[in-house]
Amino acid sequence: MGSFMTTLTVPEKLKLIYEGKAKRLYETNQVDKVLIEFKDDLTAFNGKKHDVIASKGILNAAISAKLFTILEKNGIATHFIEQVDERTILAKRLKMIPLEVVCRNIAYGSLIKRVPLFKPGQKLNRPIIEFFLKNDELGDPFLSEEHIISLEIVREDELNEIKRITRRVNDVLKDFLARVGITLVDFKLEYGWDLNGDLILGDELTGDTMRLWDSKTGRILDKDLYRKGEPLSEVLKAYKECYRRIVLEEVP
Ligand SMILES: Nc1ncnc2c1ncn2[C@@H]1O[C@H](COP(=O)(O)OP(=O)(O)O)[C@@H](O)[C@H]1O
Ligand SMILES: [Mg+2]
Repeated sequence: MGSFMTTLTVPEKLKLIYEGKAKRLYETNQVDKVLIEFKDDLTAFNGKKHDVIASKGILNAAISAKLFTILEKNGIATHFIEQVDERTILAKRLKMIPLEVVCRNIAYGSLIKRVPLFKPGQKLNRPIIEFFLKNDELGDPFLSEEHIISLEIVREDELNEIKRITRRVNDVLKDFLARVGITLVDFKLEYGWDLNGDLILGDELTGDTMRLWDSKTGRILDKDLYRKGEPLSEVLKAYKECYRRIVLEEVP
């Protein structure tokens, strides 16, 4: 995978701040920066299903780095600074907002269960943005905008800004992915505040957090393969295909 050209001195990795289901976060000797290491672990159903797929973290680090770079080029503020090794990115340290911001272009997954009027695979005439509380113990419950404002998770103007940026992210990612033969079905974003109080897109952009379908065949190229119980070798194949298309931009 070659060397990583770093344009700056990489801050020193200090202690582990947080170990999640898919990543490890390390504090650095620069208070405003974190190192985010992508693990090979894959989980589903709120952690109830768990496996390890060797090299998944490497594929996901590169896919995330590439997509964050594209968003930055399109004027969207993200936490991404640079990739420092094959499974680690350097990022702005954020105070995370405990929301999972979901944006959907095609009806699928939990939307169908919640609103059975939508049919799986139905193209939505305008993207739908939904919010869930990021809280594993509570099972990431759905939140309406009124709930979020009432709970003072963010203010109304901040929520509107989150929606505005999310639509921009969707437009940019949808266009790029279409060029490499991938349909962006839906995805989950997490936002946070940097030290200046600016709203920044954080976390990851990978097959763990996006539904990606082959534009021509409809083949699933994301974590849904794992949810559906496909062999791990098939899941890895799909993640490698995403890497080929997104990182290497090999159009099928
Ligand atoms: N730039 C950032 N600064 C601080 N925290 C972040 C940043 N980006 C993501 N995070 C948080 O780090 C954690 C990432 O690890 P992950 O394995 O995805 O955790 P989880 O299992 O909680 O989703 C998440 O809790 C996420 O909200
Ligand atoms: Mg996560």
